[in-house]
Parts: sequence; structure tokens; C-alpha cells
Amino acid sequence: MRVGTGHAHAKIILIGEHSVVHGQPAIAIPLRHLPVTVTLQEAISDQHFVSDVFTGSMAELPGLFDGIRVLVERLLRRFSEPELAFTLTVASNIPEERGMGSSAAVATAIVRAFYDFFDTALDQQTLLATVNIEEMITHGAPSGIDAATVSADQPVWFVKDAPLTHFAMHTHAWLVVGDTGVTGQTGMAVNSVKELLSDPDQPGIGQQLINHLGTLTQAAAVALQRDQRKQLGTILNQAQADLAALGVNHPVLQRLVDTANQNGALGAKLTGGGLGGCMFAVAEDEQTANQIATALKQHGAVATWLEPLTDL
Ligand code: MEV
Repeated sequence: MRVGTGHAHAKIILIGEHSVVHGQPAIAIPLRHLPVTVTLQEAISDQHFVSDVFTGSMAELPGLFDGIRVLVERLLRRFSEPELAFTLTVASNIPEERGMGSSAAVATAIVRAFYDFFDTALDQQTLLATVNIEEMITHGAPSGIDAATVSADQPVWFVKDAPLTHFAMHTHAWLVVGDTGVTGQTGMAVNSVKELLSDPDQPGIGQQLINHLGTLTQAAAVALQRDQRKQLGTILNQAQADLAALGVNHPVLQRLVDTANQNGALGAKLTGGGLGGCMFAVAEDEQTANQIATALKQHGAVATWLEPLTDL
């Protein structure tokens, strides 16, 4: 019996979410300690899906998994075995709909598991294009940054439709990620920004915010490379204000952002699609990062993660 495995991991967008959909750059980092592993195991009969959220026949996958179902069908046809009997097992440590790239990571691990199963080499361009099949269905009009970062080992400087560039940071800052526990809605958030951009009652407002986020992303790159932690914090706070003005903030996100800033953070913002999901703060050192994490939990964060930017 044939078997294939594939891996990917979570991601955090440091700056540039939403504006990246409209042509501006973004910076994202891989979170390798939040992995997903997919195993594709040949079976006697049936096409079976196993995960924490749903276990059963592929034909009965709930609507939430439409992107995954279509991706698997496409892969089976690509390898000319549409009737293959299998068990597809997804083991993920990434919280879903939290702006951490869960859907792109699961799709990436699935594509890698299929190519491993069929003993076929997989280049990055094919990987990203194939993951995009799922992301188009799950998120509508993705920039591709999630897919690019969940399969990357290093920080990413991402511009839509341009070749991917890795990004070397030289900072000793720490990140504290806080999960609001509120399900984010990337597709809806992306659409509401699009709607603001074409709102005749507020001409130019949306575009100004997108352009400003682009300028802030360029400035963040300089701060990250020169270890200018205070400047980085200020830039992140400005990006949070722009994202709020774009309409993708959420009261619980803002509460955690304010809590972080009142407890020693250099700056804080939402990350990913928004409307829920996760925020993060930047801290000067590990001790302050721990202090912020404790405060976030006291103010309603359902989970926190610490990430030294030094190791990236
Ligand atoms: C989602 O993680 C990031 C967004 O910019 C959407 C995208 O880039 O596809 C909100």
C-alpha cells in the first residue's frame, strides 16, 4: 500500500495584510513550532478524511472544507487516479480562522503529501499555484502571501505576482501573539476593504490607507534590519490605526492591542484578515514579552505564543 506525507506550518503577517491584496508589499514570518502534518494512506475502499474538526467520507465534508475537497479532487485527476481509495489524515496544531494561515498550511501539506505519495518532484511554483486552488475557494481573492509563508523557512518579503524574496532581519525584538478566540473572517474582510475602495461616498480614503500601509511596511523593513525596536513599535501602532480605519478591526482585538501597549509593548496590531483572529505585540526582550502575555490572558486572550525574532 502506498503512503505519502506532507508538512507545513503557521505564519504571522508582521505588516502589510490587506494592502498586499492591492499591490503593496508585506512582511510575514513562518511559525515553525505550529506545524501541520498530512498523511495520505492508500486504503481498500472509500475516500476517508480524518481531522480534529471532521472525520468521515470525503463526500460528506462540511461546506467549510469546500476548498480542501476541490483541491483533493483536482490532485486525484492530476495523477489520473480519481477513484483512488485512501485515508487522508490532517494533524494540525494551528488554530483555525485566526489569521495564522491554517487553511493555506493544510492545503500545502496536502499537496506535498500527494506529490510524495505519487513519488513526483514538486517545484515551488507548482506548489503555490496548486494551494491557490483551495485558497481561492476559501478566501476569495488571496494575494498568495499565506501560501508563500506557510511553506517558507525564513521571513518573507512578499509582493503579489512578483518573485518571492526572503528577508533577513537583524533584531532582538520578541513577538507576543494573542488569540482573541473570535473566529476571523478573511474572505469577508478582504471584500469589505474592496468595497471601501470603490465607495463613491468616501473617494480616495481606502486608497490613501492602502498607500500609507505600503509606506509603513517599507519603514518596518528598515527598522527590522537595523534593530530599531522603538521605531518598529510606533510603525506597528500606525498600521493598526490604518487597519481599523479600513474596517477590519474588532473590539476584542483592540482590547488586546490596548492591553499590550499598557503593559510594556513597543507597539501592537492585528495580524492576518482581522474581524477577529489574532493580534501581536512587539517587546524589547523576553521578560517584557512574558509580562505582556500574562496581561493578554488576564484580558481575555484564549491563547498566547512567544516568538523571538532573533532566531529568524
Ligand atoms: C490574510 O492572512 C492576509 C490578507 O492580506 C489576505 C491575503 O493577502 O490574501 C488579509
